[in-house]
Amino acid sequence: MEHSIRKAIIPAAGLGTRLLPATKSHPKEMLPVGRKPVVHHVVEELQAADLRQILIITGRRKRSIEDHFDADPQLMAVLEEAGNERLLDDLAYLEGESRFFFTRQSSPKGLGHAVLLAKDFVGDDDCVVALGDSIIGGGDPAALLRRMMALHRELDAAAVIAVEQVPPDETFRYGIVAIDEDEPVPGQPLLMTDVVEKPPRGVAPSNLAIAARYVFAPSIFSALERTLPDRRGELQLTDAIRLLLRAGEPVYALMLSPEQKRYDVGNFESYFQTFIDFALADERYGYLVRKYIKSIAYDL
Ligand code: UTP
Repeated sequence: MEHSIRKAIIPAAGLGTRLLPATKSHPKEMLPVGRKPVVHHVVEELQAADLRQILIITGRRKRSIEDHFDADPQLMAVLEEAGNERLLDDLAYLEGESRFFFTRQSSPKGLGHAVLLAKDFVGDDDCVVALGDSIIGGGDPAALLRRMMALHRELDAAAVIAVEQVPPDETFRYGIVAIDEDEPVPGQPLLMTDVVEKPPRGVAPSNLAIAARYVFAPSIFSALERTLPDRRGELQLTDAIRLLLRAGEPVYALMLSPEQKRYDVGNFESYFQTFIDFALADERYGYLVRKYIKSIAYDL
């Protein structure tokens, strides 16, 4: 039988300081994008990619994430009694085949530290990591993960990492990868030679930024255990990927295709843009939003 990946990890324990005060007592992963919280979009993408065992790494002030994915018989009974089919449909996600697991990162010691907490959950399997504050949009949202998982299997890779092109003057904000090719082609695996977390201006090895989705072989966990904390005391996932590369393990980047887009909800500028795009695309309310935006656009 063909071995396929079933387990996914959603790190969602970060402090979200760039979104204060909205995130003072509310997880950024629960901010609404259109009619659903950000992390709900992420879970739907994983489900569409047939990933049914989902571990969410939560933390202090993040309990509402657990509540969101927990069945609520009382609420269902009220809606059933009222005959509210539409809202019952909207809550059908609670009855799917997915199994949700939760673990807490007591203090946010970095993305690498959060992923390492999933070690026992993953065991000897391959797994997907999908950041809880980033949505992949465009056409079929699961197409990217499906392609990444297929490449991971075909190439017997240690990791396949989604990347997107960013403007050269913005590379200092991201994890940037170095690859073994001059002209990266979307959809094709790009052999990685290095990765640098937030390189200072002018020294980035490329303009390809890590785009919130990863497929890993279990060797990522021993690499994380060997990784030293950075200057701020945080364990960086990119440093562990670097160790994989140093050990000669095959690590590939996959560039998003032109119709795919990574929506990062970690700062207000991109959160607002993301909300507008999803509100416009909403099948129930999009036409009203479009009408409203057209009515005010003239004066902007
Ligand atoms: P970010 O790098 O955006 O960090 O995390 P942050 O701490 O959430 O936000 P700021 O910088 O304070 O505004 C990317 C993803 O990794 C998770 C976050 O929840 C987010 O989904 N993360 C980050 C953790 O789970 N644990 C951490 O220690 C750090």
